Amino acid sequence: INIPQFQEDLITWFEREQRQLPWRENQDPYRVWVSEIMLQQTKVDTVIPYFQNFMEHFPTLTALAEADEQKVLKAWEGLGYYSRARNLQTAVKEVVAQYDAKVPDDPKQLGDLKGVGPYTKGAILSIAFNKAEPAVDGNVMRVLSRVLRIEEDIAKPKTRKTFEAAVRELISEENPSAFNQGLMELGALVCTPKNPSCLLCPVQEHCIAFREGVEQSLPIKKNK
Ligand code: ADE
Repeated sequence: INIPQFQEDLITWFEREQRQLPWRENQDPYRVWVSEIMLQQTKVDTVIPYFQNFMEHFPTLTALAEADEQKVLKAWEGLGYYSRARNLQTAVKEVVAQYDAKVPDDPKQLGDLKGVGPYTKGAILSIAFNKAEPAVDGNVMRVLSRVLRIEEDIAKPKTRKTFEAAVRELISEENPSAFNQGLMELGALVCTPKNPSCLLCPVQEHCIAFREGVEQSLPIKKNK
C-alpha cells in the first residue's frame, strides 16, 4: 500500500463527501466527547436530535458538570444505556475539579476519566486536538480489514490492538482528524457491512480485499 496516496485519497474524499453533522460544526472537545459517547451504541440518525437537544440544555462542560443528574438523565431518555450519561457527568465533574474545566489532551489523563475507553480517547484526541492517535470502532475495523486484508476475528477483544497498530502505520500526521473521520465515514457510506459500494470507493485502488475479490467475506466475526 502506498501510504501517502492512501491518506490523500481518503482525506480528499472525506472533505468533499462528509455529511454535515451537528458535532462537526466545530472542534470543541466537549461536543466531540458527547457525540462520541452517544454514537457508541446508537445510530447517527437517532443521535442527531438528542445531541442538538443535549447541547441546548448543557452547552458547555461546566453547564453539564453543574446540572441536576435527573435533568441529564431526562435529556438522555430514549437513548438507553444510561450509565453512559452518568459516567459522562462524573467525568466532566472530574475535568472541572482537576483540569480547570478544560478537556485534557494527554492520552493518560483522558483515558483515566470515567467512561472514556480507548475508542473515545482516540476520537477526542484526533478529532478535537488533531493528534495522530487511533480511534478504532466497528466501522474502522471493517474498512481496514478489507483494505489490508486482515483476517483476525474482530469479535476477540485483543484484535482491536492489531487495528490500532495498523492505524498508527497509516495515519496522516498532517491531518489526523480528517483521516480518522474519513475511515469512519467510509465505513458508514461506502464500505458497508453488506454489498459495499466498491466501484464508488475513493480507496479502491489500495484495497487488497477488492483486488482479490474477498471484500464480502471480511471482516471475520466468529460466534463466541
Ligand atoms: N460514528 C462514530 N463516531 C462518528 C462520527 N464522529 N461521525 C459519524 N459517525 C460516527
